[in-house]
Amino acid sequence: MKDINKSRENINKIDKKIASLFEERMNEAKEIAKYKFDNNLDIENKERETELIEKNLSFINSDELKDYYQSFEEAMFKISKNYQHKIISVLNDSLDNIRTITVEAGMEDSYPVYITKGNISNLIDLINIRCKKILIVTDTNIPESYIEEVKNEATNSFVLKIQAGEENKSIESYLKIMDALSMNKFTRSDAIVALGGGVIGDLAGFAASTYMRGIDFYNIPTSLLAMVDSSIGGKTAIDYKDTKNIVGAFYQPKAVLIALNTLKTLPTREFYNGLVESIKMAASFNKDLFNLIKNSNNLDDDLLTIIYESLKIKAWVVKKDVKEKNLRKALNFGHSLGHVYEILSKQTSSPLLHGEAVGIGMLDFSSDEVKQELKEVLKKYNLPTSLNEEQKKFITKENILDKLSLDKKILNNKLNAIYVKEIGSFEFLKLDVNEIIKED
Ligand SMILES: NC(=O)c1ccc[n+]([C@@H]2O[C@H](COP(=O)([O-])OP(=O)(O)OC[C@H]3O[C@@H](n4cnc5c(N)ncnc54)[C@H](O)[C@@H]3O)[C@@H](O)[C@H]2O)c1
Repeated sequence: MKDINKSRENINKIDKKIASLFEERMNEAKEIAKYKFDNNLDIENKERETELIEKNLSFINSDELKDYYQSFEEAMFKISKNYQHKIISVLNDSLDNIRTITVEAGMEDSYPVYITKGNISNLIDLINIRCKKILIVTDTNIPESYIEEVKNEATNSFVLKIQAGEENKSIESYLKIMDALSMNKFTRSDAIVALGGGVIGDLAGFAASTYMRGIDFYNIPTSLLAMVDSSIGGKTAIDYKDTKNIVGAFYQPKAVLIALNTLKTLPTREFYNGLVESIKMAASFNKDLFNLIKNSNNLDDDLLTIIYESLKIKAWVVKKDVKEKNLRKALNFGHSLGHVYEILSKQTSSPLLHGEAVGIGMLDFSSDEVKQELKEVLKKYNLPTSLNEEQKKFITKENILDKLSLDKKILNNKLNAIYVKEIGSFEFLKLDVNEIIKED
């Protein structure tokens, strides 16, 4: 039998060589990243990667080891690309007007989010849409000038406008996208660009995930909610038969472009509706961000940082839990009751928007001290902190419990909750519904 110590010694020597080769390889990757940055080239090049892996596999003599080597190579390419994205973020940041975040969503899916205070045209050349056919999916409220900014960068583009509104995140709209893609003979090397709020992002992303088993997808969110929340993380979906997001897939975009100037045309109420998602993430993950929002004297000045910091939180959570098995559920702070308030308020003359409902929903899952802080910040931005008299008539304890039971959110009178005791942190708790939902 071979001496195990000898083998360990040999492995140590080999690992040392691998470490040094690794460093050498990453230094080359850095040079390539700089070149790609200077020449506006895409980091992703799947075809070349597959070709190289195949070629390198021919250097492995043992059939038994080929599969293992393939996994090793794939991991290496993945690491190298992540590093290149990081290098490019730093280079972009040094230009001072673009910030970049890399979202790492599993082995195959890392992608950049570019943020500018300016227009879409400041960012559009960072994505590779020149050499493919693209379908721009947008809605009827999105200004023509934004569509033009995307079209100007493409050489072969089509535009599909969906009627604005959640009711159009539907199978019918999905079929319209399928028609546009198939009639115009889109192939797997072409792409969809979503240009709009969360409705368009979810719908177009889902279409991209299914057409030909998945074509490239770029997201240009234009509502604050979509910028800070829905555009990253890869949840795509359509609604079906009165159930929200019931048909969907996890499918990550190739890149996300956030141009703050597009918010200038977003209705004010929609803007503050989106801000709640940042308040929510700040309250449960980042006290400094919470204080920035709470104390901001001029939101316009602080918005880039607020969006950037919110996205950093979401990107970190997505990296840790891509498919929402545990940690990612923390992003649902305020949502269990918020969702119920949103649905039940539809029967009233003053239906709540999603963010407005979540804002009120957070208060029920916070310590007294946090509740005070949250109320202060919600009031500052003219967001509701309680239901109005008419809403209370429809949103009774009985109706809330019915809805929660129907959605299978309560078991033995207990509700799984995200609870914030101190700003900047959260706990997962099982709470008694009778403690949370009091008769009013
Ligand atoms: N995928 C996810 O992780 C995730 C997370 C949260 C929410 N969502 C989904 O997001 C959707 C809500 O997103 P939303 O709040 O952006 O709704 P939305 O897409 O309906 O946009 C809100 C309104 O603003 C308009 N609008 C958007 N950008 C505009 C602009 N720049 N100028 C003028 N008008 C503009 C839209 O036409 C719409 O009328 C829901 O369907 C929800 O399920 C998804």
